[in-house]
Amino acid sequence: MLERLAAVEAEHARALAGGGEKYVTRHRARGKLLARERVELLLDPDTPFLELSPLAGWGSDYAVGASIVTGIGVVEGVECVITANDPTVRGGASNPWTLKKALRANEIAFANRLPVVSLVESGGADLPSQKEIFIPGGGLFRDLTRLSAAGIPTVAVVFGNSTAGGAYVPGMSDHVIMVKEQAKVFLGGPPLVKMATGEESDDESLGGAEMHASVSGLADHFAVDERDALRLARRVVARLNWRKAHQDPGAADPPLYGEEGLLGVVPADPKVPFDPREVIARVVDGSDFDEVKARYGGSLVVGWARLHGYPVGILANAQGVLFSEESQKAAQFIQLANQRDVPLVFLHNTTGYMVGRDYEQGGIIKHGAMMINAVANSRVPHLSVLMGASYGAGHYGMCGRAFDPRFLFAWPSAKSAVMGPQQLAGVLSIVARQSAVARGRPYDDEADAALRELVERQIEEESLAMFLSGRLYDDGVIDPRDTRTVLGICLSAIHSAPVEGVRGGFGVFRM
Ligand code: COA
Repeated sequence: MLERLAAVEAEHARALAGGGEKYVTRHRARGKLLARERVELLLDPDTPFLELSPLAGWGSDYAVGASIVTGIGVVEGVECVITANDPTVRGGASNPWTLKKALRANEIAFANRLPVVSLVESGGADLPSQKEIFIPGGGLFRDLTRLSAAGIPTVAVVFGNSTAGGAYVPGMSDHVIMVKEQAKVFLGGPPLVKMATGEESDDESLGGAEMHASVSGLADHFAVDERDALRLARRVVARLNWRKAHQDPGAADPPLYGEEGLLGVVPADPKVPFDPREVIARVVDGSDFDEVKARYGGSLVVGWARLHGYPVGILANAQGVLFSEESQKAAQFIQLANQRDVPLVFLHNTTGYMVGRDYEQGGIIKHGAMMINAVANSRVPHLSVLMGASYGAGHYGMCGRAFDPRFLFAWPSAKSAVMGPQQLAGVLSIVARQSAVARGRPYDDEADAALRELVERQIEEESLAMFLSGRLYDDGVIDPRDTRTVLGICLSAIHSAPVEGVRGGFGVFRM
């Protein structure tokens, strides 16, 4: 685990390095703060910042981190979603991963009713990839105004370029701050205006802070420099009169067992099962866990606990495979959590639902469907942590990404795919052999072995946490030792919105 963590840390370091020394030095020489420095100055001193998807874009042609920082932090005591363009990476221009990451941040703000602060300095669309982002990119502006309509405050602080479509970030935000002689907010810059109308103009008169604060009225606050802008942003948030839907629960007992033990829980070989109670004991308050149906469906552990004072229901895979009993146990437990308005935590280590004649005849599809129905229609907030395997429909039943968990994190040991690499390569090989036989052609066993190896390696690589995080299939890869802290921050953020389960409304359960 430590080895894998070191590998993840090395990739995080690449995200922190932004566009690299040349662009960072140039940015500083212009007297500007880096994206994460802006975030740090915005936040209350000594409060944590839960950065989300720092590995976005990993494994793609774009820089790791996707030229934007997003996360949850506390400003004047208010938990906010914060986004900050990283202008050292291709001028802060948005590529397809930047867009996904920004849209995800908006989704989090919506679902949890968190005010949004955008720290803007971006070259707009990454022009060579415009076909991937121009049309879906409108969602960014749609979201800002829909957040506003839902009564969720939006604040834009403009540090630099915010032109063309980017101009609608301040345009759609409730509160706008612009930095003197730095903000450039216009639909078209001087060259474009010259081309379009022949008019001669300059940046300041077209879209400078001074102009917008005193002539156009787009800016509500004129900041003399970057620090002043962040000070003003804090004042704006302080005046939002923002109240969370639920009060903070106050101090909670730490677990009786230390988090260091979490490093050794997941075996190196994913086929070796582990007891998730070892994890639960190191994550929940006082290691106090009331298990339900402990003697039934032993491959899934369910029960009640508190985490940083918040009540939670936990579903954790034990032996890997989900059988009919586990599925029904899960469906019942999810209904209970909805009746009691208790958020659910899913701890993944599953190879999927059991296959085979006896299980099919025993109704494994119906029972798996009950669990997936319950997860899909449950309305209490869900948190998912991929500890180890998360394969096949087991990923769905345990509230995988498509089932909209409020947050989903992976440990470096996580693996997710339609099935295990060996199984997938084996299935492909069987299908190819059958196809050859059906056509009366000979089957090349040597080529088959080579293909199997190739496919196995490809699927293995595509199943790894870093790869999945690069594609925004989670909100980040975390150190297992941080699980309690990360889930605690998420639970606090979640309670910004009312936590209400669904009563009935599960659709038809196939019995
Ligand atoms: N798409 C792709 N690459 C971009 C980009 C964009 N929108 N904006 C900047 N870049 C690249 C530059 O080509 C440059 O690459 P290089 O260093 O390999 O040559 C790098 O990012 C840094 O840009 P640079 O212009 O040197 O940085 P700057 O800090 O002096 O200026 C901007 C930043 C954003 C003001 C300036 O690059 C710009 O005006 N970009 C175009 C803005 C625009 O009109 N976008 C379309 C809006 S939809």
